Amino acid sequence: MAFEKEIKQRRTFAIISHPDAGKTTLTEKLLLFGGAIHTAGAVKSNKIKKTATSDFMEIEKQRGISVATSVMGFDYKQRKINILDTPGHKDFAEDTYRTLTAVDSVIVVIDVAKGIEEQTKKLTEVCRMRNTPIIVFINKMDRDGKDPFELLDEIEEMLSIKVRPLTWPIGMGYNFQGIYNLFFKSLRLFNPEHEKIPPAISFSNILDTEIDSHIGETAAATLREEVELVEAVYPEFDIDLYRNAEIAPVFFGSALYNFGVQEILDTFIEIAPSPSPSKTLERTVSPYEEKFSGFVFKIHANMDPNHRDRIAFVKICSGRFERNKNYYHVRLKKQMKFSNPTSFIAEKKEIVEYAYAGDIIGLYDSGNFKIGDTLTEGEQMHYTGIPSFSPEMFRYIENGDPMKFKQLNKGIDQLMDEGVAQLFTNEFNGRKIIGTVGALQFEVIEYRLKHEYGATCKYEPIHLYKACWFASKNKAQLDDFKKRKYQDLAKDKQKRDVFLAESAFALEMAQQNFPDIQFYFTSEF
Ligand code: G4P
Repeated sequence: MAFEKEIKQRRTFAIISHPDAGKTTLTEKLLLFGGAIHTAGAVKSNKIKKTATSDFMEIEKQRGISVATSVMGFDYKQRKINILDTPGHKDFAEDTYRTLTAVDSVIVVIDVAKGIEEQTKKLTEVCRMRNTPIIVFINKMDRDGKDPFELLDEIEEMLSIKVRPLTWPIGMGYNFQGIYNLFFKSLRLFNPEHEKIPPAISFSNILDTEIDSHIGETAAATLREEVELVEAVYPEFDIDLYRNAEIAPVFFGSALYNFGVQEILDTFIEIAPSPSPSKTLERTVSPYEEKFSGFVFKIHANMDPNHRDRIAFVKICSGRFERNKNYYHVRLKKQMKFSNPTSFIAEKKEIVEYAYAGDIIGLYDSGNFKIGDTLTEGEQMHYTGIPSFSPEMFRYIENGDPMKFKQLNKGIDQLMDEGVAQLFTNEFNGRKIIGTVGALQFEVIEYRLKHEYGATCKYEPIHLYKACWFASKNKAQLDDFKKRKYQDLAKDKQKRDVFLAESAFALEMAQQNFPDIQFYFTSEF
């Protein structure tokens, strides 16, 4: 059936990494392979530049530009590939977390010299929570770095996932000679001077002496030893284990030199999952259901005050979306029609007539959407799995202009719906607290309140370590906790209980003294 075939062809994924590991470079090389772009640098120019970290206006401007490349689609060997871009800047980590709710798999890029870094760890934790299949690309093999075996141990330990190398490096840095493909038993030689990567050379097995003539006797002996060890230590690659997120295949290469990229892409299209079922509060939805449904995972607002419109990014979870057809907005209980839904193909945006499960579409919005909203053909269901994460930076937010009280509230409300930050109301003194994952958001909020809503806000410092959600079946203990901690309690926007821990110690004590209370660091539990 054509409809099923369309969905089966789709591979929707994200590339994640700690800044500077090579995500942009790899994305670009994949797009070049897919023919979606023709010149290197096209993606790079949309990247938030390091130099701009203290200049959030510049960042917003660049974020504005990057809307066009938020989703990059291309066709490759009868697959329709959607790469979802994730902001590398750590202050926008929450955006990235949410984007991860819309993908079916990820590629994690690791710098061979740096190993697992903070952002890699945080982002893969989110993938682990959702059982998202992971492929690992160890990048920058043209530079000296950690021993591959040590690195694999580090990945297993720090990312809590078993690994299985599918290619193996021959040397590294100055001595990097190429990679051996453990699956196809083939060799690809590295030469930084060559613009074109030479084709792989196949062998009957690793003992073939012809290997020596390509890489030299010593390197060949080391390769044999290492491959033997790999085969002995790591289990055979099992596609089901990968798709269950129990094992991550590992590739080595150098994105900069386009080396090892073909290997990862060719394996990716073979093994990466097509759109998988999604959970709603009511039931699990198969992508192959005929009726359309989807959810909003990201909202991008323009900084241009003359155009208050926003783009809501919708992940299609089932069926086929059609332009100008009536769909049901579950939260608002109303029918909506979209006359210019947009698809994103690298470098250009275009109006789509149809889109299928696995695809991402952009819907122009004048304030109807919130992150997490579900669209259906009439069914009452709510997609789940788009948690908010415990913020780590806090400030009281106050009205700076008594005449603009309404504007301020409206602005805060809408910015929170967009997921810019989280709002808590202290139950004791009624004061409003903004919680974010990055310092930059405070500036973004202040600027946008002023320019988009004509409101002025003032911040006041508040000393907090973490805000976490809590719940318990033990009502007596819950009541006791609330009585004793009454000054440190707040409600989030959905009126759920939140504990404002002022230090790691305070949180630890609360956990110890109230063992029947569960403290949660994401809003979905
Ligand atoms: P990111 O998106 O993960 O933040 O990383 P990005 O691709 O921008 O790469 C960060 C830096 O690492 C870039 O250098 C890039 O050229 C370099 N790089 C990426 N892959 C490789 C690789 O395989 N080998 C080597 N040696 N370098 C690599 P930059 O100097 O920061 O930027 P640029 O001036 O080169 O653009």
